[in-house]
Amino acid sequence: MSLSTRSNDDIAKTEAEYWNENKLDRTKIKKLRRHSFYYSYKREAKLFDKIIPEFKDQNVLEIGSHSWLSWIKGRVVPKKLTCINISQVELNKGIDNAKDVGFETEFILMDANKLAFPDNSFDIVYGGAILHHLDIEQSVNHIHRVLKPGGKILFLEPLNMNPLYKLYRMLNKKERTPDEHALVHKDFKLIRKNFTFDHYFFDFFTVFTGLISLKLYGDKNYGNWINKTGYHLDVFFSKIPFLHFLFARAIIYGKKK
Ligand SMILES: C[S@@+](CC[C@H](N)C(=O)[O-])C[C@H]1O[C@@H](n2cnc3c(N)ncnc32)[C@H](O)[C@@H]1O
Repeated sequence: MSLSTRSNDDIAKTEAEYWNENKLDRTKIKKLRRHSFYYSYKREAKLFDKIIPEFKDQNVLEIGSHSWLSWIKGRVVPKKLTCINISQVELNKGIDNAKDVGFETEFILMDANKLAFPDNSFDIVYGGAILHHLDIEQSVNHIHRVLKPGGKILFLEPLNMNPLYKLYRMLNKKERTPDEHALVHKDFKLIRKNFTFDHYFFDFFTVFTGLISLKLYGDKNYGNWINKTGYHLDVFFSKIPFLHFLFARAIIYGKKK
């Protein structure tokens, strides 16, 4: 069940409306991200360089498309990439990008809480910032069902365990859709019912160094020593499991049980 008292269908309708009508105001957070995530994106890219080549010649599903091109481009040629989204506008961005990619793609308007594919259809299911827009239990059950035995998952998701981020989110509601819920500990437990996985934590100190850097430099000069210091602190402290709740994002890379 979703945390919200609204039905999953109503939530999906609102999501479609928000993304189709471009209702979010993310100007402020985009500027902060350019500072905070500048070095984290490079760490992310290194991890993807190791993982994404596994997509080679595989049947791949991206839910909540359109991050696929930046994740896959130059790294791998899958057998086929199927992309689904509840928003046609979001899907169209992927369709535009898909011209001349050199492998088979298919784009389908579909609710990720109710995947309409047969069992055992895909080798890999992945997505960027999508699970937290879904009913975790229901969508994870569907992902498990449509994956072949031994199939893999790869997700990059925001977290909501640090009290400071909770406060920030409460004060900046226009940056988010009304029902989205960045992941908390119990969501990981739900995913663990169906999958074994490793997770990699990103962005705690970088959020604060990014704020200082943005204040000092404005919307430029992201690759500076302040952001680099935050990044190095994060790499070190992300190795300590009981501090994971402090971090802002996690990559989840796992296998179907
Ligand atoms: C934060 S955006 C992430 C978009 C993209 N994956 C990226 O990394 O930039 C969340 C996406 O989830 C999609 N979405 C929300 N609810 C959905 C649902 N029930 N089924 C499929 N897609 C959904 C939205 O339309 C939106 O494209």
